[in-house]
Amino acid sequence: MPSSKKKPQQPAQGEPSNPTAPAVETTDPQTNKPNIVDIHTHMYPVSYIKLLESRNTIPLIRSFPGHPEPRLVLLPSEVPLLSNPSPSHPPGRPLTEAYTSLDAKIAFMDKHNISISVLSLANPWLEFLSTSPDPSSLLEPALRINVEFEVMCNQHPGRLYFFGVLPLHPENTLCALPLVLSMKMKFKHCRGVIIGTNGLGKGLDDPDMEDVFEMLEEDDLPIFLHPHYGLPNQVFGERAEKGEYGHVLSLALGFPMETTVAVSRMYLSGMFDKFPKLKVILAHGGGTLPFLAARIESCIRHDGYLHKKEKEGRGKIKRSIWEVLNSQVYLDAVVYGEVGLKAAIQASGERGVERLMFGTDHPFFPPLEEGEEEWGSVVMNTEAVNKGLGEGSKEARMVLGENAIKILNLEKP
Ligand code: URA
Ligand code: ZN
Repeated sequence: MPSSKKKPQQPAQGEPSNPTAPAVETTDPQTNKPNIVDIHTHMYPVSYIKLLESRNTIPLIRSFPGHPEPRLVLLPSEVPLLSNPSPSHPPGRPLTEAYTSLDAKIAFMDKHNISISVLSLANPWLEFLSTSPDPSSLLEPALRINVEFEVMCNQHPGRLYFFGVLPLHPENTLCALPLVLSMKMKFKHCRGVIIGTNGLGKGLDDPDMEDVFEMLEEDDLPIFLHPHYGLPNQVFGERAEKGEYGHVLSLALGFPMETTVAVSRMYLSGMFDKFPKLKVILAHGGGTLPFLAARIESCIRHDGYLHKKEKEGRGKIKRSIWEVLNSQVYLDAVVYGEVGLKAAIQASGERGVERLMFGTDHPFFPPLEEGEEEWGSVVMNTEAVNKGLGEGSKEARMVLGENAIKILNLEKP
């Protein structure tokens, strides 16, 4: 527990950033527009699609009568709808080529002025295989998917990188470790790993995760932490279970809360202190962490149990959540509005603007009207940065691309 005598390092509220590191020039000289780097952009490679097609529990791909496109059903909140699908609006979402085609990804990037994308497998990664009795059975699919991403990156030199997937299994870490160890050597374009909040099945405060964190820290492979499970269905009530609110409650509230809980558990268990060089990039602007960090800090400082534990020398959280936020945690800028964007920057410390990286969450949240080419969800994210930080400003350019280039060691476009 942080000492109550030591004032935790609060972020400077509303203070302009004063980054000392030299800016990487990422403006397109022809259009004078910033070259955007998208660090939150997913794909499902061919081998993964085949896996989903072979399944009859979620995640799965299924066709429904009257609907030409097969549907991708991923979310636990959709399970009740699978047994009784509405003929007009069955569960899931249409599996368009945006999920699977590299040409579609590149066309999307070109349309939205995105120079570089850091691809990742979308949720739920390989977690559904973790019930297999043999942990090593995850190794082959993980390897294959990472190879598929590396091949895609090689097809568009300078434009694509990726976060790899790990074969995490509740039984042990042994199958994950060889892959982590070989990641940098095998995959030239790999810039970290995407993992869910489950870890090896018991969350990210699980002592068994320490081996994985240690390897990632040693190899300087950042974790891109992404939600999938949301909150239990009962939280959202019967009407949500019947599908009345679409995916809104799960995605808008369940996802960010899940990320917040996962990273708070990591923090409370002392994982950040144990692995002080481990870098964790939080999806969706850190869930609700920027808004709740001060409350977490207050609850820690006023918790009788933690206070006693510290007094008795049985454990102490060495750094405040603010210190972790401005040293080991990075946030994506997938927040869709100025208010959230500014909160994310302020929560990330005096130099918080150096810690945010633009993302789109493509291919999720596509336009719904036929013929619409521009993705409104992307425009919202871009406008949040431009309005919040000033279009063309140094800060906007940092969040839109320069930060990612530095943090993830990408080549300048
Ligand atoms: N964004 C994601 O990354 N996954 C989903 O399932 C929905 C939105
Ligand atoms: Zn995502």
